[in-house]
Amino acid sequence: MNKIAVLYKSKYGATKKYAVMLKEELACDIYDAAAYKTVRFEKYDCIIFAGGIYAGGMAGLNILRKVYDRIRQKRIIILCVGASPFDEKAVAEVKTRNLKKDLHDLPFFYVRGAWNEKCMTFKDRTMCRMLQKMIARQDEASCEPWMKELLNAQGKVCDWTDKKNLLPILTYVRAEQ
Ligand SMILES: Cc1cc2nc3c(=O)[nH]c(=O)nc-3n(C[C@H](O)[C@H](O)[C@H](O)COP(=O)(O)O)c2cc1C
Repeated sequence: MNKIAVLYKSKYGATKKYAVMLKEELACDIYDAAAYKTVRFEKYDCIIFAGGIYAGGMAGLNILRKVYDRIRQKRIIILCVGASPFDEKAVAEVKTRNLKKDLHDLPFFYVRGAWNEKCMTFKDRTMCRMLQKMIARQDEASCEPWMKELLNAQGKVCDWTDKKNLLPILTYVRAEQ
């Protein structure tokens, strides 16, 4: 059985929740990505980087960059957590925007996290409200699915985290073991 580590970066808890679910399913070790210096990467065959997405940028990839030269021979998998519903085109765009240069071909999975403006920092809440206002001014026909969803979620408490969402990444990891 391959040894698997999950390094997660989670601001509001949904990505951490998914890391715990992966631990339940794969018996892997999980680490907060901020503690990456304590991780003995040589122990693992497969490393999953999980991170929330904020204004289009996936968290935790800076840590992957820092350790990439040490782990590039291992299986590296990316799990991105966002509020938008799954949409193939949108996920492909997120991948292209975030996995640049030699990271481009890494397997990339997307799952839906959570949304709660009350828990956000003032700065994050302000940024989200500005984004919502911008989207609200757009013609509905030109809105992408994630834009409509952001408007729907406005003022609501949403938690889309669900173990079922992990099925594609679990199937992938298990098939390659
Ligand atoms: C400031 C901010 C920006 C966000 N931008 C996006 C985004 O561009 N796309 C998206 O799908 N979700 C976006 N979200 C939603 C988060 O990705 C979602 O809440 C996710 O669950 C965050 O993971 P976490 O709970 O582990 O922090 C944003 C949330 C915040 C607070």
